[in-house]
Amino acid sequence: MASGPEPRPFSVQRLTAHLGAEIGGVELTQELGDDVFRALHQAFLRYQVLVFPPQDVPPARQVALARRFGEVQVHVMNQYHADGYPELYRLSNIDERGKPSGRHPDKGTLAWHTDGSWQRITGQATLIYGEVMPESGGETHFCDMYGAYERLDAAWKTRIANLRAVHNLDFSRNRRHGEDPLTEAQRLAKPPVDHPVVRTHPQTGRKCLFLGDHAEYIVGLPYEEGRSLIEELNTLAVHPDLSYEHRWRTRELIVWDNRCVMHRAAPYDATTQGRVIRRCTVLGEVPA
Ligand SMILES: [Fe+2]
Repeated sequence: MASGPEPRPFSVQRLTAHLGAEIGGVELTQELGDDVFRALHQAFLRYQVLVFPPQDVPPARQVALARRFGEVQVHVMNQYHADGYPELYRLSNIDERGKPSGRHPDKGTLAWHTDGSWQRITGQATLIYGEVMPESGGETHFCDMYGAYERLDAAWKTRIANLRAVHNLDFSRNRRHGEDPLTEAQRLAKPPVDHPVVRTHPQTGRKCLFLGDHAEYIVGLPYEEGRSLIEELNTLAVHPDLSYEHRWRTRELIVWDNRCVMHRAAPYDATTQGRVIRRCTVLGEVPA
C-alpha cells in the first residue's frame, strides 16, 4: 500500500518565500528523539535557517543539541568562551556592573561571512541563543548562497569555476575590523587556508558560492585583483528576495547552515542597549 511522507513531529512556518522557517512544538530542554532530530535535519537542509520560538535553553542543552549535528568547534579565541563550556562563544557588551559598555564585542560579525571558513574544516551548523536583545538593531541577516551562485551569469560562472580563495581570520578580524590581533599561539594554530570559491553542498549536492568576509585573496591572482573580485562577488551574492532579516525575541534559538548561507549582524547602539548571545558552531567538512 502506498504511503505518503511521514507527518512531521513539529510545525513549520516559512519565514520568507525562499529562506528560513520557524519550528513550533519542539521542546529544546528535552533530549530529542532520533525521529524528531531526523525531521529537523531535513528541515535544516531544506530551509537553511531554522528559528525556534522563545524558551529556556541552558548552556548544556545548547551544546547537547549542537552535538546532534556533529563535532562541535572549540573556538581558538578562548577569551570568548562562556559558562565553563569551551564549545560556547559569548558575544556581550554588558560590563561587570550589568550595564552596556559602549564597546561592540566583535565588529567582524557586522560583515557578511560564513562561520569558520578560516579553517580547513569549516563550519556546518551554527546555533545561536539570544540571552539579551536590544530594543532596536542587532538583527541577524541571512542570504542564500545557492541562489547567489545560480544567479551569476555564465561568464562569471566560467571565470570562478576553478578559483580558490585564501581565508584568514587574522585578516578579517584585525586588518579589516581593527579588533585585537590574534595572539602568536592563536595565529600559529589557525594559519590561512584556501577553499574553492564554488563548493558543492555535501548533502544536497547543490553548488553554492563560498566567500564572505574571511576570504582575503585569490590563489594565482595578483593580490589587489583577487581582493576586488572577492569584494565584487560578496556584493553580488546578496539578493533581497533571497534573504531573510531576523528581528530577535529574547530566548530564541536559531540554527543555520554555513555551507549555503552567509550571515551578518546589524549594528545597534552599544552604549545604551545590551546584546548578549551565545553561539555554538558545529564543524562540517573540507569544502569541495
Ligand atoms: Fe558568524
